[in-house]
Amino acid sequence: MIILAIETSCDDTCVAIVQAKGQKRPRFKILSNIVSSQTEIHKKYGGVYPSLAKREHQKNLPLVLERALKKAKRPKIDVIAITVGPGLDPCLWTGINFAKDLAKKWGLPIIPVNHIEAHILINFIDKTQSFPAVCLVVSGGHTQLILMRDIGEYKILGETRDDAAGECFDKVARILGLGYPGGPIIAKLASQCKSQALNIKLPRPMIGQKNYDFSFSGLKTAVLYKHKNKKYVKEMCREIQQAIIDVLIKKTIKAAKDHRVKTIILGGGVSANKELKKQFKSKWEHNLLVPIKEFSTDNAVMIGIAGYFGKPKDWQKIKADANLRIC
Ligand code: KG4
Ligand code: ZN
Repeated sequence: MIILAIETSCDDTCVAIVQAKGQKRPRFKILSNIVSSQTEIHKKYGGVYPSLAKREHQKNLPLVLERALKKAKRPKIDVIAITVGPGLDPCLWTGINFAKDLAKKWGLPIIPVNHIEAHILINFIDKTQSFPAVCLVVSGGHTQLILMRDIGEYKILGETRDDAAGECFDKVARILGLGYPGGPIIAKLASQCKSQALNIKLPRPMIGQKNYDFSFSGLKTAVLYKHKNKKYVKEMCREIQQAIIDVLIKKTIKAAKDHRVKTIILGGGVSANKELKKQFKSKWEHNLLVPIKEFSTDNAVMIGIAGYFGKPKDWQKIKADANLRIC
């Protein structure tokens, strides 16, 4: 089966062509994977500007599709997979309308895909599925702990009550005047911090609580108050990164132990963070699935994989849902 996958939920225009073989233990081959980033455009706003992102998707989609088809040597497509939510409403609709036009033109079925589920399922591109699992999805829009009993069987154990972890990285970077997106910039500066003991101490919000929820907006406020001495920018970056990592790891491992789960699955842009991966590996002795960097952040390969595990739907019933939940 050859899947054409499209992802436009935020600021990246992504098209991939994925070949899937075998039913029980599918093997995937990436025929093409194109990501057209809008980062340069949104940089000056310090975040994604939805109407601008929509316009860019409209402009980029035909070009990105052509590049993906050419790279894959124009195979015969069997099905189209498209992100329907969660995400920015105008951006989602742009991708959906584009997918519907293609489906009509080529006479193909469409499979709607949940973006959060795709961030989880990308881990099965080259690894054996192992259930039950606790999934931590950490992106610019979401921070959720999900109990996964099987593909399609999810229970949300906890989530952020305010800002997502990626959003926290982005907002702090804005406060520190470092640029956008904040995660990779803060991670780089943190790695350059050579001080042994830090002069700055930030809170670890909700770390000792019994629930699996998160709260990151207080961290941003703490940075705002403590950011007086610009000399300590690298220290601040290491401390903010460590504060986020401490909370994410503590809560995820607690969720896994409480539910007697041996597999932890990471996904979403923040899972590209090297320190987070390193510290997770040193603290979790069982099975840990983490995507490669290219598949942590938004891409269409993950939409293709999730599409393979999904079902086609009447194209007239396919619509965007900005607040779509995984269960
Ligand atoms: O999954 P993603 O590409 O888009 C959404 O679905 O939101 O995640 C983007 C988020 C941004 O907030 C970005 O700052 C963060 O992922 N991010 C990182 C790193 N790379 C991207 N955060 C921490 N460390 C990184 N290396
Ligand atoms: Zn994402």
